[in-house]
Amino acid sequence: MAKSTRTPLISGNWKMHHNHFEAISTVQKLSYLLTKDDYEAVDVSVHPPFTDLRSVQTVLEADEIPIALGAQHCHWEEKGAFTGEISPAFLAKLNVTYVICGHSERRELFGETDEMVNAKAKAILKWDMTPIICCGETLEEREAGGTDAKVAGQVRAALSGLTPEQVAGLVIAYEPIWAIGTGRTASADDAQAVCSLVRATVAEVAGAEAAESVRIQYGGSVKAANAVELMAQPDIDGALVGGASLVAEDFAGIVQFHAAT
Ligand code: PGA
Repeated sequence: MAKSTRTPLISGNWKMHHNHFEAISTVQKLSYLLTKDDYEAVDVSVHPPFTDLRSVQTVLEADEIPIALGAQHCHWEEKGAFTGEISPAFLAKLNVTYVICGHSERRELFGETDEMVNAKAKAILKWDMTPIICCGETLEEREAGGTDAKVAGQVRAALSGLTPEQVAGLVIAYEPIWAIGTGRTASADDAQAVCSLVRATVAEVAGAEAAESVRIQYGGSVKAANAVELMAQPDIDGALVGGASLVAEDFAGIVQFHAAT
């Protein structure tokens, strides 16, 4: 299959790193490094911690920097007695575009279930934002041959009850858990095989047209050195980047994969 016309999306998931001063400085550095050509070829988003969102929004809007603001998580209810949680409505008010949904760290460390991920995806869409729905297998699951069943199951559950139109605009991030923050990356062939399975699963639940439009990111130790090969795969439409997104030069190097192709 030839490379599609889907615009790649490179997203920086900062996790619990960078206070709001560090966030401002990172975004400013990034804006000096990225060019008009980069923004034309690639969509870019940054996902700072909640406490940084307003500061980063202000910088992006004041300087007209075409980087999309993203969040890492939200609750599925609009308001209520949910101490410590953040409403999707609050994120929408900050002009957040993308919200990561069901990252493996949230699933493993904070008990997020497939049902919660589905409820969050619906809430994010309701507020006109785009969920980046994460899926991926553990090392044990991979070694036991369970990758496809795990990933397809997570995708089916996350998309449950969504219309084909809603699904068409989604982003799905395939992140093998054993590759996150470990310096181990799935080979381009392995990553492509699972991303192709993700697309086939989307086609099964929402039709071929929606599956063609959905953007699928690969995540797990993406760096400038491996981005070009990963991004050349027909079903990989972007990257969800953790560690390498914290330093502006490293992240810009990944965004600029397009210049090498
Ligand atoms: P990593 O993280 O790039 O540091 O492996 C990816 C992620 O968790 O989104």
